[in-house]
Amino acid sequence: MTVTIAREDTVAVVTVDNPPVNALSQALRQALVDAVAELDADAAVRAVVLICAGRTFIAGADVNEFGKPPQPPHLPDVVARIEGARKPWVAAIHGSALGGGLEVALGCAYRVAVPSASLGLPEVRLGIIPGAGGTVRLPRLIGPAAAVDLVTGGSPVGARKAEGLGLVDALIDGDLRAGAIAFAGDIAGKPVPQPISERVVPPVEAGLWETAEKAVAAKAKREVAPLRALASVRRASEADFASAMAFERETFLELRGSAQAAALRHVFFAERAAPRPPELAGITPRAIRSAAVIGGGTMGAGIAAALRDAGLPVVLIERDKDAVERGLANVRAIYDGSVKRNRIPQAVADERMAGVVGADDYDLLADTDLVIEAVFEDIDVKRAVFARLSEICRPDAVLATNTSYLDPNAISEGVRHPERFLGLHFFSPAHVMKLLEIVPTDATAPEVLAAGFALARQLGKIPVRAGICDGFIGNRILKVTRAQAERLVLSGATPASVDAAMRAFGLPMGPFEAQDLGGLDIAAFQRKAARARGETPFAPVADRLCAIERFGQKSAGGWYDYQPGDRTPKPSDAVAAIIAEEAAGRPQRRWEEAEIADAIVLPMVNEATRILEERVALRAADIDLVKIHGYGFPRWRGGPMHYAEARGLAAVVAVLDRLSADGLAEPPCEGLRRAAEAGGFSALAG
Ligand code: 3HC
Ligand code: NAI
Repeated sequence: MTVTIAREDTVAVVTVDNPPVNALSQALRQALVDAVAELDADAAVRAVVLICAGRTFIAGADVNEFGKPPQPPHLPDVVARIEGARKPWVAAIHGSALGGGLEVALGCAYRVAVPSASLGLPEVRLGIIPGAGGTVRLPRLIGPAAAVDLVTGGSPVGARKAEGLGLVDALIDGDLRAGAIAFAGDIAGKPVPQPISERVVPPVEAGLWETAEKAVAAKAKREVAPLRALASVRRASEADFASAMAFERETFLELRGSAQAAALRHVFFAERAAPRPPELAGITPRAIRSAAVIGGGTMGAGIAAALRDAGLPVVLIERDKDAVERGLANVRAIYDGSVKRNRIPQAVADERMAGVVGADDYDLLADTDLVIEAVFEDIDVKRAVFARLSEICRPDAVLATNTSYLDPNAISEGVRHPERFLGLHFFSPAHVMKLLEIVPTDATAPEVLAAGFALARQLGKIPVRAGICDGFIGNRILKVTRAQAERLVLSGATPASVDAAMRAFGLPMGPFEAQDLGGLDIAAFQRKAARARGETPFAPVADRLCAIERFGQKSAGGWYDYQPGDRTPKPSDAVAAIIAEEAAGRPQRRWEEAEIADAIVLPMVNEATRILEERVALRAADIDLVKIHGYGFPRWRGGPMHYAEARGLAAVVAVLDRLSADGLAEPPCEGLRRAAEAGGFSALAG
């Protein structure tokens, strides 16, 4: 039973119970229509409360139904039935009223909510627009300007703000059911508000549409849905209700079948699957209530801030008293930045800073639940840190390394109780970036691995399990990106044309701009280590740039030149000359933007396939999350693996065959050929 009806005197209570989030499946839509008919016919009922069981109000349409043909009753008709009911319906909201859930609430005569509830139309995040009157009723209720913000931004608002906007009629403190029944009892018999569909849209301020269009286009870049959502709100504000509804529905159905919506749905489900790896089902994580970070540099300070933001007390250990002060200053600089950007008030920043205790000895760590090491990338320094932690910390304390490239198995040699050790690979800036690669060693206990995943949830991060190899998932693929970028400039492209092509593909910056921002020296250090291991990393131009100390923005020159105090990359004659020397004897050609993107993205897919085959990543979708949340791969493309599947793996293999025949990429690996024959990466899983 998805819907049950109870009677409290003259008020009927319709309870939706469709776990986990009361999504509007076909069965629920039908049950709501049936409930309207039953209560319309019941003369004893004077008002109706619509409330939900479980953790939330209706959280939207059932996203699982989006790949299939829509089945009646369609949601706009359900909302119209509620709006046209003979008794006033009161939506009683807790948790989230999102998408179709808010649209159902807009069909009700009244909306009441607990103060902790949130309300929103997040459809644009799924590559669609509201499809059941959200863009049409909302401007009629709260005005076009506020509707534009809610619909095109996709972010929900809290109940208090919603009340201020006129979206919520009353806040209910205490028991929602009892409060909503009392509210319904009060309004029963009084004049019912005019249905939203019959109201006129309040006048629009001059220039609203033009300003909104510019702002939405700038933010959305190549994402289609936000501008289409804006167009629908505009139509709703200019046209009659019925034609605005038809326009909205048409746009909704068109976008629902689009490639961007499929990609964004893929990411939605990948993000929900990643935190729960099947191997950890039923495992209770070790509890983490306090934390310490060793090393207060770029990463350590960011990790300390991330831990504090999640409410954990933090000890920050550095080498000596001066370094402790520098480390604390690094954390403070992060909070100063957050205050400056209006992300948090000063008082919150002060409170968080007060919870970071700096020290240059380990005595404070005797009872700490989790210690994350973020010292120099040097195995001897790291081992010495863990030897000391082995002496001081409780035997069940979780010990983690934030190494980028070193082998966590090797770092943990000598650690007492090695089952409590794992890699937690944060991305810079660690208090901002959503990705956390979680790297178990051969000895990591399941409850320690589970603690890593639980920590990610606490920190609001997306956890991805990664196996041990050089660079784990993300940085291993990054090495291929960089090598491909060099191959391109050695065969006729320029750094600026490569960067422009990757921006056009949807990345926030191209590979050369990114190297200049992060510094070329770190990768050079890795290549040196790789060569010492007998490997032959390909970076002839980057090696020459490092040899003349062109490390990027920090040395006023890298792949580009920079004017003092100006981060705008300017093409460099010196770099062009080096490229020309290194390219001597290589065939040169013209590169179109799309070909450049292929020559970078498809070799990434090839390496990612190896990563999947070696079980360094457990699922293709995990690799997509790594690239989206750690490296800015466009979300609306679904990540490289989804992109490759959507394009067709046979076509991907064909392009790679052509590139490799010209010496411009590695040939497609066996796994990729097999996946192409089978029609998808799922052939490689398990
Ligand atoms: N449809 C189907 N399943 C959904 C769903 C939806 N709209 N929303 C969440 N789920 C599923 C998740 O996949 C997950 O399933 P699993 O347990 O099998 O992995 C489960 O519900 C729990 O989800 P979360 O882990 O995200 O739970 P949280 O408690 O952290 O968050 C939430 C709850 C805030 C409701 C969050 O799930 C959410 O934001 N959901 C999406 C809401 C949304 O986008 N709604 C709009 C849909 S489009 C629409 O309504 C179109 C309309 O205009 C016609
Ligand atoms: P950093 O050089 O900015 O900071 C390292 C800090 O460790 C310094 O403040 C130093 O004083 C301190 N330190 C060194 N030895 C110590 C010891 N024995 N005890 C206490 N403190 C000590 O380096 P960064 O960039 O923060 O990197 C730290 C680790 O994080 C490295 O392993 C690196 O590979 C990894 N990493 C770096 C990323 C980045 O983008 N910078 C991203 C992800 C991981």
